[in-house]
Amino acid sequence: MLFLSSLLTLASTASCSAPKIIIDNDWTSVGFVTFLLAVDAGWDVLGLVGDTANSWARQTSLHGLALLEIGNLSCIPVHKGADYPLLNTPTQHQTWELLHGPLPYISSAGAFKPENATAEALGNDPTSGDPTRISRAAFIEGFPNTTLAGETAAAWMVEQVRKYPGQVTIYSGGALTNVALAVRLDPTFASNAKGLVIMGGYLDVMMLQTTGTRLLADINSDINLKVDPEAAKIALTANFPNITIVGNGANQVFPVQEYLDEVYQVETPYTKLFHDHYGTRLPFWDEIAMFAGLYPEHVVNSTSFLVDVDTAWSSPYYGNIMVYQELLMPKVQKLQKAQYINEINQTALLSAMKRSMECPKCATFCK
Ligand SMILES: *[C@@H]1O[C@H](CO)[C@@H](O)[C@H](O)[C@H]1NC(C)=O
Ligand SMILES: *[C@@H]1O[C@H](CO)[C@@H](O)[C@H](O)[C@H]1NC(C)=O
Ligand SMILES: *[C@@H]1O[C@H](CO)[C@@H](O)[C@H](O)[C@H]1NC(C)=O
Ligand SMILES: *[C@@H]1O[C@H](CO)[C@@H](O)[C@H](O)[C@H]1NC(C)=O
Ligand SMILES: *[C@@H]1O[C@H](CO)[C@@H](O)[C@H](O)[C@H]1NC(C)=O
Ligand SMILES: *[C@@H]1O[C@H](CO)[C@@H](O)[C@H](O)[C@H]1NC(C)=O
Repeated sequence: MLFLSSLLTLASTASCSAPKIIIDNDWTSVGFVTFLLAVDAGWDVLGLVGDTANSWARQTSLHGLALLEIGNLSCIPVHKGADYPLLNTPTQHQTWELLHGPLPYISSAGAFKPENATAEALGNDPTSGDPTRISRAAFIEGFPNTTLAGETAAAWMVEQVRKYPGQVTIYSGGALTNVALAVRLDPTFASNAKGLVIMGGYLDVMMLQTTGTRLLADINSDINLKVDPEAAKIALTANFPNITIVGNGANQVFPVQEYLDEVYQVETPYTKLFHDHYGTRLPFWDEIAMFAGLYPEHVVNSTSFLVDVDTAWSSPYYGNIMVYQELLMPKVQKLQKAQYINEINQTALLSAMKRSMECPKCATFCK
């Protein structure tokens, strides 16, 4: 039995030498660039996970399915993550905002914004209320005709990392709920993964929250980590061999109309959605984070430090990262060292994104 299973493991690892990645995100209609960048780079995308951050996990997972379907990429499975963060709820978050001021993120905190039926009918993803409801009006990319591969994403991630020890990079562009659940399900999950790459974790940005527009405050405050601070702490203090955090650096590049037009010179379902719906208001947050994970050679400025996350509910910094140099690190906690990305090569990012949306590999990826 043991012999047979080792043989099988050998066979499956030898059959595909491409780097492997699981992409966990709070998918929206325009979130496809992250997985397209990985496909374009020749990585083996083991699957997508839909989490609760921008909207509820069911809605974000269905966006994931739809975005794969429009590009003939439905062989990539989608697993739905937990509906709720480990502790946080809309009521708790809204109460925290009364004490510490609203998070500016698109008028207050993604999935925890108060429910608004009018906004949903007009095409917004669901917020607050029943996490199992779906808002079809938000599927400008088309409602998926395929189905979820599973609804217990954390267990599936554990299985994948056991199947390919040392080979799987975990990317998270939303809340870290499912990564934390996987860490707790299997004590070897983090050490057996290849690394963790996250979008979020802003540092030293308070001045920018007070001296400019609401948008400037918005892009300089966290949402992903603040939706689930306890999960962020569990994930970022787990012993992944490598942790990459893309916070402030994720604000480096903004879309401009000329770029949207340039990308649309080649028409695919992705370039069309990008051109018509991406907008020019918010930076390429998730795209920059994924790019930094796929192309370390294009990171032009980074630093490293030990990372903790504030999990005191009463704190205004609840869900923000706290960082240390070794000389001043806490003595009674085991913190991990993370690489913090300050800057990537913008030219290389924009050309990789453009190429990925033209998706020369979409036709053959699933064959
Ligand atoms: C699912 O099929 C319907 C009917 O053909 C189509 O309108 C819709 O766009 C499809 N969904 C996706 C995500 O392609
Ligand atoms: C998906 O497959 C269809 C049918 O083969 C093809 O017409 C279309 O161009 C493909 N889409 C992409 C994005 O490759
Ligand atoms: C609900 O959404 C609609 C449409 O976006 C907006 O006009 C209205 O102000 C929102 N209501 C509240 C209470 O925010
Ligand atoms: C961690 O990952 C980054 C980005 O992929 C890479 O540049 C760095 O060398 C890795 N560090 C270690 C210790 O493996
Ligand atoms: C790297 O980024 C940091 C943080 O933004 C900045 O203070 C520093 O000047 C940058 N270094 C270089 C060489 O650009
Ligand atoms: C940035 O990337 C472009 C395109 O890949 C390359 O030509 C250029 O030399 C890079 N710049 C730096 C500073 O690495």
